[in-house]
Amino acid sequence: MPTPPTDAAMRRPIVGGNWKMHLRREECVRLAQAVTRGAATLHTEIVVFPPLVYLDAVAGSLRTDGSIVALGAQDVSWAADGAFTGEVSVGMLRDLSVTACLAGHSERRHVIGESDEIVRGKTHAILEAGMTCVLCIGETLAQREAGQTDHVNEKQLHAALNGVDAVTATAHLVVAYEPVWAIGAGRNATPEDAQSAHLHIRNVLAGLFDRPTAQRIRVQYGGSVKASNAQALFSQPDIDGGLIGGASLKSEDFLAICRAATPTA
Ligand code: PGA
Repeated sequence: MPTPPTDAAMRRPIVGGNWKMHLRREECVRLAQAVTRGAATLHTEIVVFPPLVYLDAVAGSLRTDGSIVALGAQDVSWAADGAFTGEVSVGMLRDLSVTACLAGHSERRHVIGESDEIVRGKTHAILEAGMTCVLCIGETLAQREAGQTDHVNEKQLHAALNGVDAVTATAHLVVAYEPVWAIGAGRNATPEDAQSAHLHIRNVLAGLFDRPTAQRIRVQYGGSVKASNAQALFSQPDIDGGLIGGASLKSEDFLAICRAATPTA
């Protein structure tokens, strides 16, 4: 009798490339084209997050190339429309064929100063628009050293997801666990430490929704993921791909990471 699929096998890995405030228009288009070419043979879900002003250029290139790579935005307003100078709404992103958006990235929480309340507003705006919301959570070094990793993750999940229903979460939510001290730092959590945090996150999701929903939600790891450490991280049972910063700026590096997330069975 065939063995039933495990929980991890039910979840299709997802890898995101967060280009942050790097690259110029032509570089973005070339990178998107190279990722498209390499992605054609992979079974991993791939999303690129170019700078906001180049979304349209990258959208055009992905469309022309018939790409399976999805287009994501790094940020969005919690408001639907109105007098919010400099902001961009989910409706505007959808006009540009954007299908995913980050919320709560640590650089926005800790550098720009976004509160849990703002992250909550953005998370709900993205989910209500039917877009994939990649909700980023994670502890600072001081919080880790104080033994608060699980507590911080739980608090950030509750703050952002309170009021979200299980059907919406199953369809549109991805969680990215990104320890703040590992982002852009060249050091990452060990696979075992990351797995322990991911398991706790899944248990929190089970409390917020229910166990089957928690088993379906993808939880990515982020923070100095490279081709050389991706396989060890992604082979952990509760790690379902990654959110990649620095290593997503070179197509060969990014594609090697995407390959490491591709199920072998
Ligand atoms: P990094 O960034 O891969 O450069 O550490 C990850 C992120 O910020 O999502």
